[in-house]
Amino acid sequence: MDCHDDVHKTASEIDVKWYPNQDCQTCHLTESWSASSGKFEHSKTKFQLKGKHQQQDCRACHLSDDEPPKRTFAGLPNTCADCHEHGHGNQFASPLPPKGDGLTDCTRCHSLDGWAMTDFDHDKTRFKLEGKHAETACQKCHLPTVVDGSTVVLYRMESFECVVCHK
Ligand code: HEC
Ligand code: HEC
Ligand code: HEC
Ligand code: HEC
Ligand code: HEC
Ligand code: HEC
Repeated sequence: MDCHDDVHKTASEIDVKWYPNQDCQTCHLTESWSASSGKFEHSKTKFQLKGKHQQQDCRACHLSDDEPPKRTFAGLPNTCADCHEHGHGNQFASPLPPKGDGLTDCTRCHSLDGWAMTDFDHDKTRFKLEGKHAETACQKCHLPTVVDGSTVVLYRMESFECVVCHK
């Protein structure tokens, strides 16, 4: 600190509890200022880094796209939808309070290793895929549909009796 500005303290960015004795080396080594090469233990925060998140630079989440970029640590939004675009609309959201939290649990269908739905078991939905249906492409049943003014691929249907799809 005799030679380098404590950019974080002056901006009250990082609570000192994350770097005891104001030791910058909790996060920065002398190779570069990128904290990603440091040894910060993220598991001590409220947000565990798992799957693909472990491979991201700190700045991917803590630095904004603004010019100049802004660093945010405490209070950084931490639900999946805060950081990830998705075209699902509200179809998978839990009910609004007091019945639910109004949020969507993305991990019900996706893992943190990638968005592809490799482990998805359709038989756990309200409609089992049997016979010819099991060989049918997803897009034949799940069609782009306008809901509340925006187009989503529809996965939640009001009715799915045979006659809905087989006229
Ligand atoms: C809890 C982790 C953490 C601690 C402790 C910490 N920093 Fe940082 N610092 C970061 C992160 C994250 C960035 C964002 C840049 C990056 O990682 O790519 C950053 C960025 C910086 C930058 C700007 C680098 C750039 O190119 O934008 C400087 C300078 C810096 N830190 C100095 C310090 C100093 C000096 C200390 C000790 C007083 C310190 N930091 C302590 C996490 C930390
Ligand atoms: C995938 C996104 C992501 C990455 C990558 C990431 N973080 Fe975080 N970090 C978060 C989230 C979300 C929180 C929780 C914010 C909250 O709930 O207040 C957090 C919390 C923190 C906190 C605690 C803030 C506080 O006061 O509670 C620090 C310090 C921190 N991260 C430093 C780092 C450093 C250093 C790196 C790189 C080694 C890093 N983070 C990488 C998302 C990320
Ligand atoms: C603070 C921001 C932040 C939060 C919160 C967050 N992510 Fe991420 N996530 C990122 C960033 C940044 C990346 C790397 C860039 C990218 O692939 O979008 C990433 C990458 C991913 C990837 C890898 C994508 C790929 O194709 O490699 C998946 C999957 C993912 N996140 C799922 C989730 C899920 C599920 C949640 C909620 C449990 C979540 N994320 C919460 C920031 C966040
Ligand atoms: C009930 C299951 C379900 C839930 C919950 C769900 N998704 Fe999806 N998601 C899907 C399906 C099905 C697809 C299309 C599958 C495909 O094309 O591989 C998809 C596709 C995606 C894609 C595009 C993947 C690609 O490769 O283009 C993203 C991104 C995504 N979802 C993000 C999210 C996020 C973020 C959340 C939470 C807010 C979420 N999903 C919640 C089922 C779900
Ligand atoms: C023969 C038609 C058909 C095919 C093919 C099909 N689905 Fe479905 N799917 C349905 C029906 C019907 C439902 C029940 C809708 C509901 O619960 O509202 C459903 C439900 C879903 C749901 C919602 C689950 C939930 O819990 O909310 C997802 C996600 C889904 N399907 C994904 C897929 C994916 C991915 C594929 C391709 C691998 C696929 N479906 C193939 C007919 C089909
Ligand atoms: C959500 C839409 C949907 C529902 C609901 C649905 N099907 Fe299908 N079904 C399809 C699609 C799409 C195909 C594939 C047709 C194609 O490829 O042309 C298919 C294929 C079939 C086939 C094979 C037809 C052939 O020529 O190979 C039969 C038989 C069938 N369905 C019977 C049923 C019965 C019985 C029900 C009610 C229990 C039902 N389906 C409910 C969408 C649906």
